[in-house]
Amino acid sequence: MIAIDGLNLNYGERIVLRNLCFRLGEGELVILQGRSGSGKSTLLKLLYREIPHFYGSILLDGTCIKTMPKHVIRRKLGVIFQSFELLERKTALENVALAGEVTGMPAKEIASRAEALLDRVGLTGQENSYPHELSGGEQQRVAIARALLNRPKILLADEPTGNLDGETAADMLSLLKTLQDETGMAMLLVTHADLLASMPEARLISMENGRIVER
Ligand SMILES: Nc1ncnc2c1ncn2[C@@H]1O[C@H](COP(=O)(O)OP(=O)(O)OP(=O)(O)O)[C@@H](O)[C@H]1O
Ligand SMILES: [Mg+2]
Repeated sequence: MIAIDGLNLNYGERIVLRNLCFRLGEGELVILQGRSGSGKSTLLKLLYREIPHFYGSILLDGTCIKTMPKHVIRRKLGVIFQSFELLERKTALENVALAGEVTGMPAKEIASRAEALLDRVGLTGQENSYPHELSGGEQQRVAIARALLNRPKILLADEPTGNLDGETAADMLSLLKTLQDETGMAMLLVTHADLLASMPEARLISMENGRIVER
């Protein structure tokens, strides 16, 4: 699903990624760890093309991401973040729907999928709530529903439990795991060691000196 070879990225003088290679297979669950500042978020940003310029090769489903329009990448990749990144002036349902609007999905399909996904993540009845009316865990559920709207083959998650308390964080990881099993999507998850017990089958990797190391 993802094949990265010879990936190099600098911020000015600072070398962040150094000849990095990585493979993510279909339906695979990979957990990425590494020191703060080691380049984990940078790698994810490169994958969903928030950072457009880099040296090396990134293939998504066999196609070079440099030649893929952004809406095509959005269909293949779902993304969730520590900070949820919901739009404050939109309801839960509208936030989820947005993911389909940017990829050109028909309105009817957006509406039915968004409703079903909010149901699936346990937010029935809260479709019309605004982000400030939801708890952190509920906001992250909206963000998960939004990430899944396009039925991506890959879900990227950058410390998705970083703003949640321990119990809510564990619930969130188990929800992600269940959704991964249900959909068969691959998942690349940046998260901390103390939550890993709930995902014993995951492949563990870490970012060291700008490269990916298997653990
Ligand atoms: N836009 C930017 N401009 C300059 N330097 C940056 C920029 N973004 C990140 N960096 C630097 O690149 C390095 C890697 O940052 P990155 O955010 O990828 O780390 P991380 O592994 O995700 O860390 P954390 O665990 O704290 O989230 C850091 O040294 C950071 O200061
Ligand atoms: Mg980070």
